[in-house]
Amino acid sequence: MTTTATRTAMTGEEIVALTKKHTLFEWSAQSKVDPIPVARSKGVYFWTPDGKRYLDFNSQLMCVNVGHGDERVVRAIQEQAATLAYANPFMATEVRARLGEKLAEITPGDIDVFFFTNGGAEANENAIKIARLYTGRHKVLARYRSYHGGTAGSITLTGDPRRWAAEPGIPGVVHVLDPYHGIERGWETAEQSLAMLEEVIQLEGPQTIAAFILETVTGSNGILVPPDGYLQGVRDLCTKHGIVMIADEVMSGFGRTGKWFAVDHWGVVPDLLCMAKGLTSAYVPLGAVGMRRAIADHFKDKVFPGGLTYNSHPLACAAALATISAYEEDGMIENAQRMGVIMKGLLADLERRHPSVGAVRSIGLFGIVEMVRDRKTRQPLAPYNGTSPEMAALGKFFRQEGLYTFVRWNTFFTNPPLCVTEEQMREGFAIIDRALDATDRVLA
Ligand SMILES: Cc1ncc(COP(=O)(O)O)c(C=O)c1O
Repeated sequence: MTTTATRTAMTGEEIVALTKKHTLFEWSAQSKVDPIPVARSKGVYFWTPDGKRYLDFNSQLMCVNVGHGDERVVRAIQEQAATLAYANPFMATEVRARLGEKLAEITPGDIDVFFFTNGGAEANENAIKIARLYTGRHKVLARYRSYHGGTAGSITLTGDPRRWAAEPGIPGVVHVLDPYHGIERGWETAEQSLAMLEEVIQLEGPQTIAAFILETVTGSNGILVPPDGYLQGVRDLCTKHGIVMIADEVMSGFGRTGKWFAVDHWGVVPDLLCMAKGLTSAYVPLGAVGMRRAIADHFKDKVFPGGLTYNSHPLACAAALATISAYEEDGMIENAQRMGVIMKGLLADLERRHPSVGAVRSIGLFGIVEMVRDRKTRQPLAPYNGTSPEMAALGKFFRQEGLYTFVRWNTFFTNPPLCVTEEQMREGFAIIDRALDATDRVLA
């Protein structure tokens, strides 16, 4: 477990203590946070200052898709910093030009114009602004089981409990139900879910609705892979009613699902496509809204009323170009597809062997396990928006054994970097297997 220690001027405990003293941690009561001190990372691993190694089974925050410490990306950032670290957004730079062209090549359909932001939340903010200006309407539909970011508009779009503290939020947002209703009730069909959506559209007045924003495959709210027909149906309803379809692929984009974008699995072209995370593999912050030609043309003679000091930041554009080229050079999207098949098998094994597993879901390297207290009643092992001693113990076991992943409510995730090998995947699942043995014993 322990390999070479990485020297930092401070010990792990000192780093944690000083970080907690002077900085705030997200979404947490500060007395409850217990961060892992991180000193360095490489490939699918990272190390504490004392040399404890962790297998990163969540790509940090589902974002380091290319893997840690990729020298091609590091070099591109270094070279760009040495040549032109910054130019203001009214200027044109080669990296910005090349990145726009490259994104137009890999995004679906006629999406070929991009507005760059600092991250995912701002991509969504700009997407709803664009949709409102383009349609002249103001309402935005979003789904309950969703996360769209922490800024004023994006947190209002968010359906999960992270929204609650920000209410009432921005005006005009209407939430609709997802096809998934939790581990106890399960899924409804694409037809049922689309009928509900159309009813909401009718009741709200289609002529008042600018956009419907949805995560193509829902990420932190449960790796919810839509039933076949659902996305096509959403596309058709949006087209029928002149509603802008916004696909939030901040988490599901850039190979995470085994295709460049999750919409590619269903051949659907959204009107706006939001991205971040895997765009630069988080080496530096960058987000973007991609738009179809007709929407981009709207701003030919009309002002695009938006801006950011760090829009099209050269370091970020260079990092994105190098990241995308690393995905291509190493065939990482294909690797995600291949390893995704292996992961599906390993997840199915867990479900077969452990009574505490209520459901598993995955697409590519985007995976989740839902834990239950009892297979018959399907009672979740922790309540919605809550935790339980059993889930806390599971998280503790992972940490002790050097597996880093995201444990949330009654679920935990399996989202390794796209460069993961079969051996590394099995290493992670072996730890999970032992952790679940312990959970099964406690529940028996
Ligand atoms: C689907 C989705 N949209 C938007 C965001 C917000 O992105 P950011 O944190 O870069 O603002 C996230 C972040 O996790 C996300 O998962």
